[in-house]
Amino acid sequence: MEEISIFVMGKEYRVPKGQTIMKALEYAGFFYIRGAGCRGGFCGACGTVYRKKDSYRLKVGLACQDIVEEGMYLAQIPFYPANKKLYDIQKLSPRPEVIISLYPEILRCISCGSCNKVCPQDIKVMEYINAAIRGDIEKVAELSFDCILCGLCASRCPAEIVQYYVALLARRLYGAHIQKKAGHLKVRLQEIAEGKFDKEIEDLMRLEVGLLKERYQKREIEV
Ligand code: SF4
Ligand code: SF4
Ligand code: FES
Repeated sequence: MEEISIFVMGKEYRVPKGQTIMKALEYAGFFYIRGAGCRGGFCGACGTVYRKKDSYRLKVGLACQDIVEEGMYLAQIPFYPANKKLYDIQKLSPRPEVIISLYPEILRCISCGSCNKVCPQDIKVMEYINAAIRGDIEKVAELSFDCILCGLCASRCPAEIVQYYVALLARRLYGAHIQKKAGHLKVRLQEIAEGKFDKEIEDLMRLEVGLLKERYQKREIEV
């Protein structure tokens, strides 16, 4: 097994070549108590900072996705103390100025594009912040749909904007007030509330695990 040297908080460790940063850190003896979740690039929990050998550039990425390289210097991003506003989404009205009223700092955006460059989901972050400034809630929701709330954009923003909470607000506003409600969902919720499926659920809960797996494999999938 070929090994390489990486430096974690300044100390050298020998780790297998070709591993993700997360696996290399675990190989080196570190335990992820927080800062790890899905291990597949979807939960956004594992933001990390690194610098490659002989490079002046400080980079950020996801520890479960980026691969270690010889001479890499690493540090995990601790919990990101972002400004998150509290609100009752049902009481907020989806007016164009609502995002600015809760996150006025978005007006400080200088359109530098740093957020776009670091987003592991290739989201047009700057564009959705600009849409938020214009009050276009639907556009923000659409552009930010794949956000995994990793926080990397905020870690590089010179205007100290927490882009992902701005986007989350827009998606919640869109879901609660703008998106057309699905008629069949309303019917199904009413059926659940009236107990239409209670007996079926009880029968399923009594099933032995093997039979349950078999039922799952044979289930009908609507496309
Ligand atoms: S928009 Fe920001 S928080 Fe969301 S995935 Fe991209 S970098 Fe991460
Ligand atoms: S990093 Fe901040 S200032 Fe730069 S474009 Fe993104 S939101 Fe605007
Ligand atoms: S652990 Fe979930 S994105 Fe890395």
